[in-house]
Amino acid sequence: MLARSAQCARLARSLPAAAVSRRSLASSPRAAAKACTDYLRPTHRDDEVPADVAHKLARHAAVTLNTYARPNYILARGKGCKVWDTHDREFLDFSGGIAVNALGHADEGVAKVLQDQSRKLVHNSNLWHNEWSGELAYLLVQKTKELGGLGYAAGQPEKNGTPDEGGLKVFFTNSGTESNEGALKFVRKYGKHVAAVRNAAGAEKGVEAPTDEKVEIVSFRDGFHGRSMGALSATWQDKYQAPFSPLVPGFVPATLNDIDSINQAVTERTCGVILEPIQGEGGILEASEDFLRALRRRCDEVGALLVFDEIQCGLGRTGSLWAHGSLPTDCHPDIVTMAKPLANGLPVGAIMMKDKVAEVIKLGDHGTTFGGQPLQTRVAHHVVSRLATPSFLSHVSSVGSYLHSRLSALHTLFPRLVAGAPRGRGLILGVPFTRDEYVQRIVKLMRERGVLVLSCGKATVRFVPSLTVSEEEAEKCVDVLESALLTLDREVEGI
Ligand SMILES: Cc1ncc(COP(=O)(O)O)c(C=O)c1O
Repeated sequence: MLARSAQCARLARSLPAAAVSRRSLASSPRAAAKACTDYLRPTHRDDEVPADVAHKLARHAAVTLNTYARPNYILARGKGCKVWDTHDREFLDFSGGIAVNALGHADEGVAKVLQDQSRKLVHNSNLWHNEWSGELAYLLVQKTKELGGLGYAAGQPEKNGTPDEGGLKVFFTNSGTESNEGALKFVRKYGKHVAAVRNAAGAEKGVEAPTDEKVEIVSFRDGFHGRSMGALSATWQDKYQAPFSPLVPGFVPATLNDIDSINQAVTERTCGVILEPIQGEGGILEASEDFLRALRRRCDEVGALLVFDEIQCGLGRTGSLWAHGSLPTDCHPDIVTMAKPLANGLPVGAIMMKDKVAEVIKLGDHGTTFGGQPLQTRVAHHVVSRLATPSFLSHVSSVGSYLHSRLSALHTLFPRLVAGAPRGRGLILGVPFTRDEYVQRIVKLMRERGVLVLSCGKATVRFVPSLTVSEEEAEKCVDVLESALLTLDREVEGI
């Protein structure tokens, strides 16, 4: 770990002079005792927009359906955890493309396979085999067995001395939403299969069928699964759902970590339950091990499938390949959905499922034009080969714990702004604030000091940088955050 004050000073020296200001903070003595004061002055002001940029943005705004609130600059290039705008202003990127750029921006290895494959075969549809989608599926399945997940404890790549090749299957998609959409279709079909088998067994014994309507899907408040009509129906957040109602029928809301409510929500009518083991957009809220175990048990009791949406928290972000991979197997799901970091920014997603799910999906049941094509699956193969190694994952854990420990000090330093300890694991962390408006202000204050972070959920600042982020970069991020907090503290004080 770095000596903080030395590092703070060193980083300050590498910034433009305007950023460096070691002011005496007598007005805020408690915070001044420890918080970094090197970044009190803004260096990247939102309101200083060069004329050429203003002109371009106005031209684009005239023809773009805008659903995003964006600052007035245009990002042009990146490297590792840094990005630069068209005027060469440097930003430290702790948004990671919203948890996407796992290997960092402009990664050489990614660029090399991308270039090579783009000269060989980009797309050939799913009517023909290609060289890479099967290889990627194989790698994902083997790495899951080796590192733990989907019912496999870590370290089970072999059965009786030979590679265990069965057990799991993968379907490729183009995004997180599409992965969830596919998973929702698969659980519906599985539910119909279970109901049909039960009905047939009941009819043989002359018993009335328990139900032929095993179609309900349970999902959780504050979860986020995407914006298509199916995925949106599973996303119980009013701001996303209300403008587009009525949604798809058959979705049932439940409350994360409320073990007592599970039996009421998950019934014989349930075909599937979907949740994020760590809710990302909802505010970095983690499902407890006991809750996941109880949910698993209840799904088995009623013959429903358990789906983990690891689109944001999976693929190495927690320091394990899967966020659930470090948990005992009696907490594991039947299906995992993934996307974001899979190809480090190229659009690709996947649904990985146990064989019992795959067995009910028949030829023609589902399909996609772009999913599983050679360009994105070759890049994803490269990315997963690098992510799913013990040294890479231990780097994530170690920088994650460093970042967590620095963020843990903020509640004591700024009790009226920061509501408590950081939430999350590895490099998916959130700091709770006492008010939502403080979060928006901090995101801006940090951006104006050259560090990009995100908000999420209720009053939470989110840190989801590239997984290659260094401890020095984590140090700088929190130093800037401390200076931003000092600035906000003074604003709140009215100084
Ligand atoms: C947990 C989770 N699921 C699904 C999605 C939707 O993914 P996409 O935007 O790739 O469709 C997201 C996106 O933020 C997500 O965080």
